[in-house]
Amino acid sequence: MTLVDHMKIWQAHVDTALDTWLPKPNIEPFRLHEAMRYSVFNGGKRLRPVLVYAAGMAMEVPTAWLHAPACAIECIHAYSLIHDDLPAMDDDDLRRGKPTCHRAFDEATAILAGDALQALAVHILSHGLDRQIPAEQRLAMIDLLAVSSGSRGMAGGQALDLGAVGKTLTEAELENMHIHKTGALIRSSVLFGVLCSNNPQESVKNQLDHYAKCIGLAFQIHDDVLDETADTATLGKTQGADRARNKPTYPAIIGLDASIKLAQELADEAIDSLTEFNDNAAPLRDLARYVIERRN
Ligand code: IPE
Ligand code: IPE
Ligand code: MG
Ligand code: MG
Ligand code: MG
Repeated sequence: MTLVDHMKIWQAHVDTALDTWLPKPNIEPFRLHEAMRYSVFNGGKRLRPVLVYAAGMAMEVPTAWLHAPACAIECIHAYSLIHDDLPAMDDDDLRRGKPTCHRAFDEATAILAGDALQALAVHILSHGLDRQIPAEQRLAMIDLLAVSSGSRGMAGGQALDLGAVGKTLTEAELENMHIHKTGALIRSSVLFGVLCSNNPQESVKNQLDHYAKCIGLAFQIHDDVLDETADTATLGKTQGADRARNKPTYPAIIGLDASIKLAQELADEAIDSLTEFNDNAAPLRDLARYVIERRN
């Protein structure tokens, strides 16, 4: 099976599971539930859920155990995008080719939809994880979700991003910002797959952790590159928004060619960290390439 075949199956799995976890739009408060569904079911690539399934496959975890962590991380991701697009943050009108949540609804509803999706993610992990996964690993997943989305993870990275507008960061500062705002959730996605497996070995965990850190940074470097080089229609978000807003990005700090090269080196390094894995890790290897070759 190719990566595309795997992705189609995993995307369908997570969409089915998300549909059962998200309150139906005919349940009150209607507008809030509509906004949550609007922001989850509007054409995302589902990369983070795909990474949960791919890491779980590498660890030989039953697929059914992976649905809950896949849903939880996608809810956190959807929340992070809703808030990222708000006027107080990136002030974007377009997301996945459609009006952003605050544009389609209103700012207050968008803030609440983000809040509620974050809370839903915690609920999904607390209730949805298979009881055959050791209790301390289930607890570790809830903790990982909290830490990687909080001030020491995604939200912290977003704070660094906002504080850096109009400033020239060093490459080390930029790397730190990207590792937090984007890398943290990508890393957690892979670690969820590991934590679902029965008593994972420390060395195996470390190899997948290194893989995850490399692709997390590569992913955001490529996001910065796409902001410069893609077109709005393909991207589904406004091309050139980073430059227009004076955002510190890899192309702005080290140049476009060096950014593309660095993302490639990180993808190679990610693949190199999987040498001890068998063919069950083939989708993970292919995903390292996908992250830097994707067009949106
Ligand atoms: C966009 O993430 C936000 C970043 C962290 C750069 P994705 O590119 O994974 O967004 P969707 O979910 O596919 O729209
Ligand atoms: C967003 O980074 C990171 C998070 C949402 C946490 P960007 O601001 O670059 O993402 P896009 O380009 O709007 O998707
Ligand atoms: Mg942003
Ligand atoms: Mg943004
Ligand atoms: Mg971006």
